[in-house]
Amino acid sequence: MHKMNKIQMLEFSQKGDNRGHLVIVEGEQDISFDIKRVFYIYGSDPKVIRGQHANRESEFVLINVAGKSKIKVKDGVGNEAIYCLDRPHTGVYIPAMVWKDMYDFSEDSVLLVLASTHYDPGEYIRDYGEFVREVSK
Ligand code: TYD
Repeated sequence: MHKMNKIQMLEFSQKGDNRGHLVIVEGEQDISFDIKRVFYIYGSDPKVIRGQHANRESEFVLINVAGKSKIKVKDGVGNEAIYCLDRPHTGVYIPAMVWKDMYDFSEDSVLLVLASTHYDPGEYIRDYGEFVREVSK
């Protein structure tokens, strides 16, 4: 399958009741991978662009558990798409070897990221030219 077609919005089950909302994301069940790492990004100025990298190994699911942000994804061979994250029960799945820019953070944005790997700076590609070279190999 084409890499851009693997990127998809996910709807997670909600178990809300009169006490409030509860959203469930289970590794290898609600998402395709086992969750090895969780991090979250907040307090980013709306003018900031984060990410600006691709990962050789890691797959991610991004969920704006509060507020809003956008993610632009590129495959390095001319295709790009923008996803708006603005609901706590909705995420976007991003496979490995996709260029990612996160931006347009609302002041209250808390962007939760679930990752398939432990952190390894060596699997990050932070130069767009290098990314294009690697996907074109
Ligand atoms: P960075 O990759 O620049 O964040 P973003 O993708 O949001 O632009 O990471 C910021 C800093 O945090 C950088 O010094 C690396 C470090 N970091 C870790 O130590 N572990 C992690 O899992 C992540 C995602 C980042």
